[in-house]
This record gives sequence, structure tokens and C-alpha cells, in this order.
Amino acid sequence: MGRERVLSGMRPSGRLHLGHLHGALQNWKELQEVYDCFYFVADWHALTSEYADPSSIRESAFDMVVDWLASGIDPEKATIFVQSQIIEHAELHLLLSMITPLGWLERCPTYKEQLVEMKGKDLHTFGFLGYPVLQTADIIMYRADWVPVGVDQVPHLELAREIVRRFHNFYGEGIFPEPQPKLTEFPKIPGTDGRKMSKSYGNAIFLSDSEEETEKKILTMMTDPARVRRTDPGDPEKCPVFALHRVYTPAGERDELSKGCTTAGIGCVDCKRVLIGHLNASLQPLRRRRIELASDPDRVQRLLREGTARAREEARRTMAEVRAALGL
Ligand code: TRP
Ligand code: SF4
Repeated sequence: MGRERVLSGMRPSGRLHLGHLHGALQNWKELQEVYDCFYFVADWHALTSEYADPSSIRESAFDMVVDWLASGIDPEKATIFVQSQIIEHAELHLLLSMITPLGWLERCPTYKEQLVEMKGKDLHTFGFLGYPVLQTADIIMYRADWVPVGVDQVPHLELAREIVRRFHNFYGEGIFPEPQPKLTEFPKIPGTDGRKMSKSYGNAIFLSDSEEETEKKILTMMTDPARVRRTDPGDPEKCPVFALHRVYTPAGERDELSKGCTTAGIGCVDCKRVLIGHLNASLQPLRRRRIELASDPDRVQRLLREGTARAREEARRTMAEVRAALGL
């Protein structure tokens, strides 16, 4: 028996931040030790919303992959590739689009939400409606058993399973496994304004930030809003800085800080300085690798090419079977 297969992808959003590190990359890194992992750059998916100006997608993809590698995604263990370099994804997407009822797509909660949320972009397109069909093609192309995704993506996985069942009904059982979402608990990573960390909110600490930039961002980070003066006691539970302490500061020291906060024994700047020390120390190896990788784009491109070649072989095998099943 081979190892079970895991597949996941990310839209190329450029430089990644602490939210990506703790919400996805560390998980990917652990999974690559246990599963046969495929991780890919979902650049066609980016086009579903960025079609009007695709000029930055390529560079964003590069920056993102540098962050993957710096975070410890190991191309010797996992297959990393670029979606648009494997045209089989388009063929499978087309075939799946023939059997996917429109109602399934129109009912998809992510579709309805995004239409409302992404104001300023016209998402009333065929491509955007079909996003989950493309995602299904990505997943089943590699016969993935598990797909690590956020809870927001669970409806897409349900849809993928329904599409697989319909495919089997029409063309014969057992061609694809039904992919399951792999949900893991992640620490909450607030941004500097206390909202969820996100590039679009301008509140992110990037993996590529320098120690000085990190320091500056933490020093201006929001704290417990009730703690206005140094003499006001604070509540760590209401403080986004403390949420980061939970990730980066050893428990004993953290308890001391918590006590200092609730008794007004320490000031927020003292508290933040401790965080800055731990945060920068923890990111240092990653940042070093990142600088090295970013200075050697040929190496990054070669690793991606090698991974893509490996993925393409698998995609070709799958498509040969799919065409045979349809009698094409
Ligand atoms: N939709 C995913 C996201 O926005 C990205 C993605 C595309 C993906 N295809 C995938 C994730 C296949 C997992 C598997 O985050
Ligand atoms: Fe937040 Fe620390 Fe200030 Fe308390 S002392 S409010 S935990 S930054």
C-alpha cells in the first residue's frame, strides 16, 4: 500500500504572512512527513477574480513559492507545481463542467458570499461560477484522499464529492476516491489592528519582513482598548498582542506577563518587547532561508519545473483513464 495522498493549493497572493504560516504552511510541512503530498500554485483560480489585470500573478506566484520553501516545504518530500503548467487541469475541468448541474454551483455558499463581498469586481462570469469545478479537477486529477483546507472551503469539498459520485454514475465506479477535507486546529493569528490577519486589511506581518519592520509593527499593534494609561490594568484575553504571545512565548514567561498586565505591573511596551524578541528569534531561520532563495530565482524555478514534471505525469495517467471511461 502506498501512502495516502494529500493535495492542497493556494492562490498566488504574493508574500505570505504569519496567518498563512500557522494556518496552512506548518500543517503542510507536517503532512509531507506522513502523506504523499501535492502542493500547487492555483494561478488559474486567481484569474477567476483577477482576470482584468493578470499582470502580477506570475510574480506573486514566485514570492509565494519562496515562502513555501523557506517555511520548510521540501520538494524532495512533496510535489510542488503550478496549475497553469499542467493543461490537463483544463481538460478535466471541461469534462466535469458537462456533468455539474448549475444549481449545485449557484447554491454554493462561497459563491453567494463572494459575489456580495468582492465589490468593485464583476464576478458574474462563467469562470467564477465554475470555480469549485476547477477545484474539483485539481483534487481528483491526483486522486487525493485528503485536502487540508480552511472551514470556508468545506462546501467546495462536498461539491467535489458529489461531482465524483455523478461521474461514477455515468462512466463507471471507482475511478476517483472521494476527497475528504482535513481540518486542523490552528491558533488564531490577529493582525496589528486586532482583526484577522490579512494582506487586504494592511495589518499583516509578512514572513519576508525584516526584524526592524516586525518590531515597528508590533510596537504600533493594538492592545486591550480598555488599557489607556500605563496605570490601567489590562485584560490579556482582550489583547491581540497576547494572542501572539500564545504562539511565540513560553508558557511560564507568558503567565508572568499576564499577571503583569492584569495588575498594571508592566506596560504594554515592555510586554511587546518580549514578544518582539521571541517572534524574531522564531522566524530567523525561515527568514534566512528566504533571503537565500529569493536571491537564487533560477533554483526556485528549477524546483518548480521538476515538481511540475512529476505532477504532469500523474495528470496524464489520470486523463488517459478518464478519456477511456468516456469512450473518447
Ligand atoms: N480555493 C482554494 C483557496 O482559495 C485554493 C484551491 C484551488 C485549492 N484549488 C484547490 C485548495 C484544490 C485545495 C485543493 O484557498
Ligand atoms: Fe496586551 Fe501586554 Fe498590554 Fe496587556 S500588557 S494589554 S497583554 S500588550
